[in-house]
This record gives sequence, C-alpha cells and structure tokens, in this order.
Amino acid sequence: MTVMPKSLSRREFLYRVAAVGGTGLLLTTLNAWGGEMQSSTSAPPRLTGNGRGRTVIILGAGLAGMSAAYELGNLGYDCRLVEARSFAGGRCQTARRGTTIKEYGGEAQTCDFDQGLYLNHGPWRIPYNHQSVLYYTRLFQVPLEIMVNDNDTSYVYREGNDPLCNRRIRQVEIKADMRGHVAELLAKAVKNNKLDQDLSADDKILLLDYLVNEGNLSRSDLQYRGNEGRGYKVNPGAGIDPGPGVPSDPLGFADLLASKLGHVYSAVHEFWQQATMFQPIGGMDAIAKAFERRVGKNIRYSTVAHSIRQSEKGVSVELRDLAGEPAGTLTGDFCLCTIPLSVLGAVDTDFSPTFKQALRSVSYAPVGKIGLQMKRRFWEEDDFIYGGHVRTNFPGIGSISLPSTGWQTQKGVLQGYYNFEGEATEISAMSLKERADFALAAGQKIFPAYRESFESAFSVAWHRIPFSLGGWADWSGAARKSAYPLLLEGEGRVLLAGEHMSYLPGWQAGAIESAWQQIEKIHRRLHA
Ligand code: ALA
Repeated sequence: MTVMPKSLSRREFLYRVAAVGGTGLLLTTLNAWGGEMQSSTSAPPRLTGNGRGRTVIILGAGLAGMSAAYELGNLGYDCRLVEARSFAGGRCQTARRGTTIKEYGGEAQTCDFDQGLYLNHGPWRIPYNHQSVLYYTRLFQVPLEIMVNDNDTSYVYREGNDPLCNRRIRQVEIKADMRGHVAELLAKAVKNNKLDQDLSADDKILLLDYLVNEGNLSRSDLQYRGNEGRGYKVNPGAGIDPGPGVPSDPLGFADLLASKLGHVYSAVHEFWQQATMFQPIGGMDAIAKAFERRVGKNIRYSTVAHSIRQSEKGVSVELRDLAGEPAGTLTGDFCLCTIPLSVLGAVDTDFSPTFKQALRSVSYAPVGKIGLQMKRRFWEEDDFIYGGHVRTNFPGIGSISLPSTGWQTQKGVLQGYYNFEGEATEISAMSLKERADFALAAGQKIFPAYRESFESAFSVAWHRIPFSLGGWADWSGAARKSAYPLLLEGEGRVLLAGEHMSYLPGWQAGAIESAWQQIEKIHRRLHA
C-alpha cells in the first residue's frame, strides 16, 4: 500500500509517483486511495517528445496494432501496419449481410442475415470497467448502447434428474428463493441463540433486521413464503380480476440445494461480468472502423509477415501476399508485433530459441459461436425476456444469448451457442448445417417457437479461423510464470502486444492496454 507523505500535496505526490514508477505505479496509487479508478488503465501513456524520423513496423491491424499506430502517429512516428486480412480490426468483427469467412478445413460461408441484423461473433461486450476501450469510444464518438449481460428474467434450463431439471426457471426465482431460504435459516439460528458466541445482543437485532429484509421474511415468525419480486402466477392488474394477482410459490430449499442452481448467478461476482456492459450501436466493428478511419492509410492489407530479422540498428520484415509471393520488405527502428502467438510461432524469425519456445508454450482457446436469425422475437413477445443469457447445461451450447438491440422490432439474431475447449472443437467439426441443426434442437427444448422462427445461421469456430487460430490466449499457470515475463520484454527491437500480453485475455481492453504499455517502452528506448 502506498502511504502519502504528510508534507506533500496530493497532486505533488502523484506527480512524483508517476515520475519514479511510470503510469502503472500512478494508477496503483490512485486505486489505493479509495477506488477513484476502477480500471487498470483508463488513458494512454502521456508521452512527450516526438517520433519524427522514426519508423515503427506494426504487425497486425487489430485493436492493439491500431491503438499503437494511433498514439505513435500522434507523436509523429511513421507507423507501417501490415495486416493479413483484407480489413482491419482483427477479431473485432461483426457478421452481417455479405460477411464471408472460411475456416481452415471448412466450407466458405456468407452471412445472409437481413439488412440491419448482425452478430458480434468476436468481442461482444464492453464491461463498464474497461475504461481503455471506453476511452476510445468516447474519443472517437462511437455510439454505444447497453448490452444486457445480466437479466434476472431470463431462464435457466437444465437437463437431468433432480426435481428442478427439464423445466424453465427464471433466474430471479432462484435468486429470491435461495436468499429467502438461507435468510430464514440464519434468522432462526440467530433468534434461537445459536450464534451467541459470534454476535453481541445489538448485532443480533441488527442482523435479524437485515435478514428479514434480505430474505423477505415475515417479521413475526421469520418464515420465507415467497416474494413478489420472484414473479406472480397471475400478475396484478385492473379491477377484481386479475386485481391483486396471484402470488407464486417458492421453489423448495432442498430441491434448490440439490440442483446447485444457487451457482447459476455467481457470474455477477466476476469483475468483468457485471452490469453495466456496453456494445456499439450497429455492431462491435464500429470500433475497428473508427480506428481504421484514422490509421487505415498506413495499413497494407492482405499481406503477411514472412520473416522478421533484426540488427543493432533496426528491424526488417519480409512481406508476402496471400498467394505466398514476395511483396517487398519493410524496415524500421522497432517492430510491434501483435500477431497472435498461435500464428506467430510459424513465422520465420531470428528470435532466440528460448523466446521461440516461450511463445510456442502458450495455448489458444477453441471457441465457437453461432448466430440464428429469427423471424419473430418470441423471447420478447412470448416470454418477456429483453436481452441477457439463457443458461443451460447442454454440452456444446452453454448459454443462448438474446440480442440487446432492436427491441420490439420484428426479427432478431440471437446467439445460439457459445462453446469452449473440447466442446468447441467437437461442434466445429460439424458441417455448417449440422451446427445450425444442433443449436436449433437445443433451443427448441426451451422455446416452443424456436425452430419454426428460424431463418438463417452464421457460425464461427475461432480456432479454425486463419490469422487467429483461437479465441484468445489460454494461459496456463506455468506459462504465465515462465513465458509471460519473457515475452513481455520482447527481444531486441521487437516487442509483442495484444490481448495475449495482458491479464485480460479475450478482451479488447487487454489488446489496447498492452499496446499502451509497449509503445511507452518503444518511445523511451528511442528517446533514451
Ligand atoms: N471476453 C469474452 C467474452 O466476453 C471472453 O465472452
């Protein structure tokens, strides 16, 4: 913990901290002072001086590469970006009418969703605490809307043998009843003097008051008998009928415990998974496009780095086109390489054997998603669910996610599965049609109108996507310990950046923040 010397003003102290420890220490210090900053980093490093006459080769025009190019460009550096795809953004993509992808070993796929409908098949949510992403959406004025990541009204559906399986249960019913039952149990223990060793007489009164409120218990007998927040059998309305409505019955405590459904909402405890979340209006690639408008003139598209060589003085990168034909050589003072490690391992480099071994030791996550265009928004019309995730225990499906846009319009694209690891590998081996059938069969168990509403599908298996070969870096504990610090240092005049070079793997914030760290190093080294 940082202690503020008494004789210094707060501003002076912060200034000194930054001077000694750089921005990282400044932010840690601010955090220690009562949570003024929620994010690890919320603005690019403030770099002084200028980079005129210096060239930085940036491999990969994803968010890491483009944020580096944007910031270094502002300082006067000549940034040359090399991008294997024909468009910028890396994994920050949106599938809409006309989007094409072809997985390794897979069929060519063209999205034929209706105009205006889309799936963010890469990144799809921006937590409020990812201030680095929000820094650019604010700066570039990318319009955002709320992404409903946590919807209590949404269903949980599990297959199995316990009494709460094979039926739709709204998350709010589980939350209300678990709280109610646990509060009742605890309140009775307090009342019956079972916790006297731990509680003073005053604490007992205060705790009982809290538990009555928390669990909606009756004050007289401390019983939990349900809670209007969990929903009604018949909702209240006008007149006598429905009048005050008919309350619903709570789920039994023993059944809830046996089902382990109490685990279902633990996701809200995760720092990155809380409300509030955002998404750009019209698709996540609005962020990529905003960067591209600013740095796109320096991008060479459909070009790959064939080899990377460096000397005391600089770096040279031999380029190839997508047919493998030579496409010239770039030379620069430094190279910021944002190519995913899954792909970089195969590039011809003069890295040391130790560095090569380190970058090959990081595995990448198999991840799959499917978008299903539905001709009717039955989840809104029939079930009153507006966004959020339907949580299932179906292997290969995980969650079904409902769109946070286009409310009450006619059609919508929902995310029919989001799978990982072995399940993602298995599902990705199916044909495109089989993937859609698989997703439809699962959804049909939960929503009667699922299959009849289906119009078209678009699926992606990131581990089979050229130039990505995985959803994100899947760091093992061992690789974090040995490979991460080494890779973070880079080698000579080549530094690495991307979500993989952060503790936010699989997040756009990781890509941006790692780029911010590395450009600070490049700038310092060139101006030492
Ligand atoms: N960041 C990824 C997601 O939001 C993992 O699902």
